[in-house]
Amino acid sequence: MNDERLFTLRNPWFVWSVGGTLGIAIVAILIGFIWLPSASSAFGDRSLWARICGAAGVPSSWYSGSSVSHVPSEVVVLPPSGRVHPAADAIGRGATIATQHCSMCHGVLGTVQVTAPALAGQYTDAVYKELRDYQSGQRESAVMQAIIAARSDQDLHDLAAYYASLARAPAAEKTPAGVGPDATAVRLAMQGDPQRNIAPCAACHGELDRKGAAPWLGGQSSQYLAAQLRAFASGERHNDINEQMRNVARQMTPEEIDSLAKYYAAMQ
Ligand code: HEC
Ligand code: HEC
Repeated sequence: MNDERLFTLRNPWFVWSVGGTLGIAIVAILIGFIWLPSASSAFGDRSLWARICGAAGVPSSWYSGSSVSHVPSEVVVLPPSGRVHPAADAIGRGATIATQHCSMCHGVLGTVQVTAPALAGQYTDAVYKELRDYQSGQRESAVMQAIIAARSDQDLHDLAAYYASLARAPAAEKTPAGVGPDATAVRLAMQGDPQRNIAPCAACHGELDRKGAAPWLGGQSSQYLAAQLRAFASGERHNDINEQMRNVARQMTPEEIDSLAKYYAAMQ
């Protein structure tokens, strides 16, 4: 028995096991490379050889570098970070334009209209980006788009420099004496709500840390702040880079929006 050779065609066990394995492999190849590809519409009416190549993973056309589609993401422009200390003449030019065309709505010391945000002391990049977005139509406003349409890029930089040079607007609304800020608002502003993917407002808006182009929120009326949050939540306002604000606002309840709007309106 021990003398019997294993690997010989005369051994029926050898013949059946090797033959069986080869048979299964051939059937699997036929199914995987020919039958399934010809049954699948993904391979179209290609020739037998093309279908076999396709099933083996060979690309139908080799990448030539030209087939990448250029889908524009949200087009945004940020000023170079070098403009931290704007020149005095830029501030002067900005002041001249602002006095004639902007201050009646945006004030100099703080907001004069509940619907128009205070700009005094606002970050340069935030003001510049909003003005660019009104000009390009990324942010829509019947009032602001018309006002800013014909302004040169230099005007926008000068206006941003001017508003950043002013002292920060005082709190727009006072909370009654003895009444502290709403606990929900404080928690969302300082800690966020990780379970709902809400980062702390203060991590982007300047109290703790700041993300580029995020405006300082203090000094605005609660009406303006709530209107902007609702517009982000509905997508009506959509000029925020990478949906940073839309993702936050969509998660907030109407009560949270109102309470945060009051919280920031009472902050300087
Ligand atoms: C007739 C009133 C009016 C005048 C004049 C006006 N604005 Fe506005 N501005 C508004 C209103 C209202 C909004 C809020 C619009 C919105 O909801 O998008 C606004 C928004 C802005 C914002 C966005 C601020 C933010 O925090 O998002 C900037 C920046 C701005 N205006 C700058 C200017 C400049 C610069 C001028 C002068 C060239 C000017 N505005 C003239 C009414 C006015
Ligand atoms: C991941 C960063 C980030 C977080 C977190 C964040 N924001 Fe913002 N927010 C932004 C940016 C950036 C903008 C400016 C968007 C633009 O116009 O380009 C903005 C804009 C806003 C505006 C509009 C202000 C104006 O004058 O136009 C409001 C109001 C606002 N955020 C409120 C909040 C509140 C309240 C929270 C917390 C619940 C919050 N944000 C959390 C980044 C953030």
